[in-house]
Amino acid sequence: MTTLLITGGAGFIGANLVRRVLADRPDWNIVNLDALTYAGDLTWLADVLRDPRHAFEKADLADRAQIETVFDRHPIDWVAHLAAESHVDRSILEPEVFIRSNVLGTQNLLDVARKRGVKRFLHVSTDEVYGTLGAEGKFTEETPLAPNSPYSASKAASDLLVRAAVHTFGFHAITSRCSNNYGPRQFPEKLIPLMIANALDGKPLPVYGDGQQVRDWIHVDDHCTGLLAALERGRVGEVYNFGGECELPNLTVVKTLLSVLGKGEELLRFVADRPGHDRRYAIDCSKAKAELGWAPQRRFDEGLRATVRWYREHADWVARIRSGAYRDYYQLQYGGRLAPGSPPG
Ligand code: NAD
Ligand code: DAU
Repeated sequence: MTTLLITGGAGFIGANLVRRVLADRPDWNIVNLDALTYAGDLTWLADVLRDPRHAFEKADLADRAQIETVFDRHPIDWVAHLAAESHVDRSILEPEVFIRSNVLGTQNLLDVARKRGVKRFLHVSTDEVYGTLGAEGKFTEETPLAPNSPYSASKAASDLLVRAAVHTFGFHAITSRCSNNYGPRQFPEKLIPLMIANALDGKPLPVYGDGQQVRDWIHVDDHCTGLLAALERGRVGEVYNFGGECELPNLTVVKTLLSVLGKGEELLRFVADRPGHDRRYAIDCSKAKAELGWAPQRRFDEGLRATVRWYREHADWVARIRSGAYRDYYQLQYGGRLAPGSPPG
């Protein structure tokens, strides 16, 4: 048996990875470490919480003693590190939370994992560490790091801490950098679930700026397949990019969603832009294809329809989130932008 520690396993990608590992790796046990911040929620894992191969541990990576306790309780062989503060807009409002979880949290986890003899450590990072692209070109693993938001700067810092652990201590770590994920169980602060939830409620859809910023969309299932491939077959010290090979302007994504939902474009609202908004991301994932035998499989139109179905079927989950602390965040983030007379993009 291999015991895999997944951090952030109550979040969007982590919860999808937990379910995937339990289904596809019958000889692995999972320890799921998560602080259960606003983004962490065990509802969707209710069935797997009863699985004897899955142990949930509530712990905060910024507190090293709490990580030590988890390692005392379980014989951990491998780590997939996903826990992080993940939303760019929140990082603009409150950057220090990102330094605490993403930078200090990663260093604490690296130190404990190394001292406890962890044999493989996958650090899950983002294409945002590369900064922004013009109209041409794609990010490769050699693109210099040039993060532009407090979120991406904190992730770039964590990438460099992982690099240092490999270089200084010979620690067996691998880093992956992925483009924008979508799919079931994404917190409704992110573009696709926010637009689905607002459209279903007949509320305005806030498009930042001119809506022509480009993101490279990948289904979370394809990302999870890549994470397993990197964990099992990646070369120590290497970085692997994952992307969906699906570049789309935000406005196209939002209009496509309206059409899938059967709603009209009168719901669109062009609102003041995100400060420092990166214009275009696009990933060259040829290294992952060549070395890991990985490629994105899910078509965006099919994946988007399935995602819309998931959100329709889990309307109670979304309503519960949107009636809690999320309301205060939404007011802070969008109240001024959506108010009559607020500046257009
Ligand atoms: P998410 O916000 O949905 O989930 C993050 C999880 O981490 C939550 O369950 C939260 O409770 C937990 N967490 C946060 N701080 C913690 C701490 N200090 N200690 C323990 N747990 C803590 O995020 P996500 O979208 O699932 O992203 C997961 C990872 O993948 C992140 O590292 C993110 O940077 C990276 N990533 C995300 C995307 C994307 O499009 N969502 C793309 C590329 C990379
Ligand atoms: O590229 C990978 C990154 O993708 C991950 O590292 C991050 O964790 C993840 O949040 C995501 O970052 P983005 O900032 O690209 O995602 P978000 O869903 O917040 O926004 C996608 C695009 O849509 C971006 O150009 C901003 C725009 N947008 C977003 C929101 C929430 C809007 O126009 N309106 C909105 O209300």
